[in-house]
Amino acid sequence: MKVFIWFLFFLPIVYAAEPYDYFQLVLQWPPTVCHGTCTRPVQQNFTIHGLWPSNSTKPELPINCSPSPFNPALIKDLKPRLDKCWPNLTGENEDFWKNQWETHGTCSEDTYSEHGYFSKALTLKKNVDILGYLDNGGIKPLPPKVVYRKSEISDVIEHGGHKFSGTGHKPRLWCSGDNELLEISVCYDLHLVLMDCPPTLLNYQINMCNETVGYYPFPPPPASSGSS
Ligand SMILES: *[C@@H]1O[C@H](CO)[C@@H](O)[C@H](O)[C@H]1NC(C)=O
Ligand SMILES: *[C@@H]1O[C@H](CO)[C@@H](O)[C@H](O)[C@H]1NC(C)=O
Ligand SMILES: *[C@@H]1O[C@H](CO)[C@@H](O)[C@H](O)[C@H]1NC(C)=O
Ligand SMILES: *[C@@H]1O[C@H](CO)[C@@H](O)[C@H](O)[C@H]1NC(C)=O
Repeated sequence: MKVFIWFLFFLPIVYAAEPYDYFQLVLQWPPTVCHGTCTRPVQQNFTIHGLWPSNSTKPELPINCSPSPFNPALIKDLKPRLDKCWPNLTGENEDFWKNQWETHGTCSEDTYSEHGYFSKALTLKKNVDILGYLDNGGIKPLPPKVVYRKSEISDVIEHGGHKFSGTGHKPRLWCSGDNELLEISVCYDLHLVLMDCPPTLLNYQINMCNETVGYYPFPPPPASSGSS
């Protein structure tokens, strides 16, 4: 009986705790993620990897915070936008969303339901045009391969180029082992207001870019197969 009461007492507290104090919107650059192996067509833009509740005192993320299973029926209305902006580059889109909801989304479930989580991520993505900021700053993924300074890329995302401003905040860049731009994290406070990514994230060694970053283009579309 005593055990049972303690159980009832602690369970809601465990799930109510917020193991995070900011969010990262993680955007992937498909040409690097795919490394020439993706067969599915995706829009030529940064696409969403996930919205990750994060802890500013350490780079490790809280994960798998509650057992709420992913339910695709709950986000049916968002599906067309998710298909476009949050594609799985190698397989079924829903498998990717399930994995992101269960790993990361459940950690902010106290604030955002499954529908809220996906719709917030879409809204945030819509409002940061990383591709546009870079283009405006003269940073373009031109063939065959162009290499830029890491600081140039970060500065243009933060401060913008000659035509328009950037996010106003420091992003975190992620690179593949051979220093190709893989992903960019943009950071938000708990009210989803943009903020600088914290030093723990900026200095995190995993997938750290060195001073020269390859920003490679999408492969050319397959040649059309002659006369029909
Ligand atoms: C972040 O992690 C630290 C160290 O594990 C922990 O003490 C702290 O409570 C966490 N922050 C939040 C907001 O949960
Ligand atoms: C993409 O889909 C495949 C199969 O449908 C799945 O195995 C894979 O884990 C998914 N990718 C991600 C990043 O979730
Ligand atoms: C890329 O996505 C952003 C939204 O994040 C959008 O504003 C922009 O128009 C897109 N660019 C292209 C070339 O599709
Ligand atoms: C950065 O990485 C590239 C590719 O791995 C390498 O060729 C280059 O020497 C590295 N530069 C520095 C300064 O470490």
